[in-house]
Amino acid sequence: MNDKLNIDHVLQGSYFHKTLRQWHSTKTLVNASSFIFPLFIHENDDVVEEIGSLPGIKRLGINHLKEYLEPIVANGLKTVILFGVLENEKLKDSTGSFADNPESSVIRLIPLLKKWFPGLLVACDVCLCAYTNHGHCGVFHEEKLDSCLNREKSVERIAQVALAFARAGADIVAPSDMMDGRILAIKNLLQENKLLNKVSVMSYSAKFASSFYGPFRDAAKSAPSHGDRKCYQLPFTSSGLAIRATQRDVEEGADFLMVKPGMAYLDIVREIKNTFPNHPLAIYQVSGEYSMLWHGAKANAFDLRMILIETIHSMRRAGADIIISYFTPSILEWIRDDKFNLN
Ligand code: PBG
Ligand code: ZN
Repeated sequence: MNDKLNIDHVLQGSYFHKTLRQWHSTKTLVNASSFIFPLFIHENDDVVEEIGSLPGIKRLGINHLKEYLEPIVANGLKTVILFGVLENEKLKDSTGSFADNPESSVIRLIPLLKKWFPGLLVACDVCLCAYTNHGHCGVFHEEKLDSCLNREKSVERIAQVALAFARAGADIVAPSDMMDGRILAIKNLLQENKLLNKVSVMSYSAKFASSFYGPFRDAAKSAPSHGDRKCYQLPFTSSGLAIRATQRDVEEGADFLMVKPGMAYLDIVREIKNTFPNHPLAIYQVSGEYSMLWHGAKANAFDLRMILIETIHSMRRAGADIIISYFTPSILEWIRDDKFNLN
């Protein structure tokens, strides 16, 4: 009965109004600078290509980027992350040597982005899978027996590629290869080249071997030709390995941490935020999450803006500071129009 009611247990009086609800949401409120937009840079400067697996996202050649980005930057875009895409198989080899070739589209694009959009923060994904003929993220032993990579050779190549991006003017290098020891190798090489104070390292520190990457591998033409990535990406059944991998990257000097994929891994986000509260944490809402939400909205299962408000705010609630999302252009428009916070 009513007289048994504990007055402190009536919570509804504290969130009946929009502004009151927002006061309960200060940890999840988002603004434009929270978002990083991934870009697929085609090797051919004149190309504009729709990506079947990622509706609405394009592979773009350098000649189209300025025009493509202008309206998005005008809506508040602060950071991009670049992924190179090679159509021409002849440019791929066993060590991914085109990744740090000065002729590569990513390396040529970095200074142009800086010139066109002086305030834009430019991050580069550092990996070999889009540049190797076997599609794996590192370099194999001579004999190539299984899908396990040669750690030493892989780390050496990854650090060289990171240095090439840093020299070209990248503000952030983001290694996604998941080789043990690559953060330290990159930091050491940046130091030798006096770039340590000019370049951030964002580690894909807790990256799981996930089926959610399917559309990306089509988009970046980076699917492994044999085997899978289970020898280097983390098993999704283990939170212990995620914490240990992140701890290791923190000790090696990572500036920013990441959990990837996003939605199915929010427990990991919370655990990492609690364990490493002093490092800004990024979450990657990956290609499979994008497609899933896009197709769900297309099929009228839900409204795209409403489902994104819920998923992005859930990521913030779990502890994500930075969100990498293919939905960034739409989200920036909604933020601009004050249509992206809880109401
Ligand atoms: C490359 C890389 C991948 C993603 C980011 N960097 C794919 C993979 O590891 O196979 C996935 C991003 C996405 O699915 O949106 N190492
Ligand atoms: Zn890779």
